[in-house]
Amino acid sequence: MNKPSILVARGVFPETIAKLRQHFEVEDNPADAIWPKSELITRLQGKAGVFTTGSERIDAELLKACPGLRICANMAVGFNNFDVPAMTAAGVLATNTPDVLTETTADFGFALLMATARRMAESEHFLRAGQWTKWAYDMFAGSEVHGSTLGILGMGRIGQGIARRGAHGFGMKVVYHNRSRLSPELEAQCKAAYVSKEELLRTADHLVLVLPYSAQSHHAIGAAEIAQMKPTATLINVARGGIVDDAALAQALRERRIAAAGLDVFEGEPAVHPDLLTVPNVVLTPHIASATVATRRAMADLAADNLIAYLTTGKPVTPVNPEVLEPA
Ligand code: DGY
Repeated sequence: MNKPSILVARGVFPETIAKLRQHFEVEDNPADAIWPKSELITRLQGKAGVFTTGSERIDAELLKACPGLRICANMAVGFNNFDVPAMTAAGVLATNTPDVLTETTADFGFALLMATARRMAESEHFLRAGQWTKWAYDMFAGSEVHGSTLGILGMGRIGQGIARRGAHGFGMKVVYHNRSRLSPELEAQCKAAYVSKEELLRTADHLVLVLPYSAQSHHAIGAAEIAQMKPTATLINVARGGIVDDAALAQALRERRIAAAGLDVFEGEPAVHPDLLTVPNVVLTPHIASATVATRRAMADLAADNLIAYLTTGKPVTPVNPEVLEPA
């Protein structure tokens, strides 16, 4: 029997390609080029599945042009590159990679918080530039992490992981705001108290954003929200670009209306707002919160498993829109 054909739209581990080749005819992208939509559509002709990352936009136009497509397996927990209602309407399954990156991303969120609060990037640049000539009582004095108030906006699995690290590891008081309140058991595990968004902004010493991107969360943190934060506060974004109004944030950082920010994601990335590149009190990383070798392997494996499971048995591992599955 002919194997189904699939496209792997970005570079990925050779082991992942080898695993997929056991089940499919695979067209891969060893050069890791980012194909424009027209080329993606051309390459998707005759393909039943596609392995994507956040850089491929799957929308109604693409789906209409690729009628044979049955599944798009994203190697990411976030899937804001997918128009899920359009995929569901077209009967195309979307899958993502939850759980396997939770703890790694929470580690990174906490690391970025610490680097930001303790001014690690700024002080390293100073040292590398040969400007360190003497110790000084106030040199790169940052803000306290232990015992301070950790605010979390978006309390899914990664938010809970960050809360546990803050509460149990650093004795922080944890407050959070989310669309829905956690169960009393989860709140107790995270030692986290539910508050309004206004109270969260007003009380957090360190505010970490971990909510998914959607039209509703676009610019959830803009000038008006930043104005409600403490002038000593830090803001950390490990969620998605577009949740923060980067221009408003850069201006607030320059005017020291908040102390500092740590950003792993950006509006329009990989482009970064030029004003963020010139303010000193921001730590910038290139969307690497889930980037450990083991976790990226686990994400690639799960995306591949979704393709294999759906196209060979009809039962995906982690579907985003299970309503397209045929009733058992
Ligand atoms: C995710 O999984 O959504 C990450 O942002 C991609 O690394």
